[in-house]
Amino acid sequence: MADSISFSRGAPSADIVDVEGLKQAAVRAFENDPAGVTGYGTAIGYVPLRRLIADKHGVPEDHVLVTNGSMQADAFLFDEVVGKGDAVVTERPTYDRTLLGLRERGADVHLVGLQEDGIDIDELRGLLEGGLRPTLAHVIPNFQNPGGSTLSLEKRRALLALAEQYGFLIFEDDPYVDVRFTGESLPRMLELDAPEGSTTPKNVVYACSFSKTVCPGVRVGYLVGNPELIAKIQRRATNTYISPSQVSQAIVYEFVSSDRFPAALQNVKDALAERAGTLGTALREHLPEATFVQPEGGYFLWVSLPEGKGHDCAKIAKEAADRGVQIVKGTDFLIEGGENAFRLAYSAVKAEQIDEGVRRLAEAVHAAKG
Ligand SMILES: Cc1ncc(COP(=O)(O)O)c(C=O)c1O
Repeated sequence: MADSISFSRGAPSADIVDVEGLKQAAVRAFENDPAGVTGYGTAIGYVPLRRLIADKHGVPEDHVLVTNGSMQADAFLFDEVVGKGDAVVTERPTYDRTLLGLRERGADVHLVGLQEDGIDIDELRGLLEGGLRPTLAHVIPNFQNPGGSTLSLEKRRALLALAEQYGFLIFEDDPYVDVRFTGESLPRMLELDAPEGSTTPKNVVYACSFSKTVCPGVRVGYLVGNPELIAKIQRRATNTYISPSQVSQAIVYEFVSSDRFPAALQNVKDALAERAGTLGTALREHLPEATFVQPEGGYFLWVSLPEGKGHDCAKIAKEAADRGVQIVKGTDFLIEGGENAFRLAYSAVKAEQIDEGVRRLAEAVHAAKG
């Protein structure tokens, strides 16, 4: 079979991870703080890293909890605030793992359409005016997974106003924010939500991760929010694992505070920019009927084929796999629909393989219809 080309994994290829920098960071971590690194620690996370995160966001340290990947932060938050039968809003489509996590907790999940500039605020307002009272709205504001779109500033403000009016928590799930490769950064809802003269958000809890800026293998993510909520989640974290991995966090701390980090991050962004650009060009050439948002950062491009033309992403995924190309079916990111769509992750595919991957994918799309 032809070489395998995987557009399925939302992870960086090994060539864009600064392995040498991480090795040096690990040595420094053990040399600089042997007791801290080898001990249990507490559930708040490795103290120097927690301080660095608090400084980055301009909040007191008690607003921050470091976790084993932001997936763990998501799980703690859902366990804390989402009860069985609670209404929860997510984007449509949305990240398959959080969608599954919410459904497994018995949440009554309402998916609200995703547009090029983020969640459809009018649709959400309509639901709220119609009586929906969510406890939580899960939003991926930058380079959405899987949609690739970014929530505009206007919509960030509108969403905050709705949260205030209808009393729900916004979960700002933001692992991709620091891998923007073009365009202007937008303020976080976390910052916009804090009242004048305060750094404490009213209705936002924020999650971020070092998976996309350092590497996923370290499994270091974090939550920022109201200190009362953070303290409750801290108790949950203590009972779950005493502390997140001190070794990983200390390596991350040493790495991101080193002189090497800015160049390493730039290297990741440059590679992602090239891959996203090459993928867009290849799609326009080989699959001109496809529509997609050209992302300004992140890992993903969501490809929609014309509706009503009999496209079936399950068949396309199978035909693609037969040609050595892996994709993720659109239906995985939705409760219903999505048969005419699929997600392509460009983070793990070297630029020189992309055109060939899309050429085979286009063949698969046509074969699946035959
Ligand atoms: C939207 C979103 N949230 C959370 C995660 C989990 O990231 P982590 O590696 O920090 O657990 C991902 C990973 O792909 C993601 O896309």
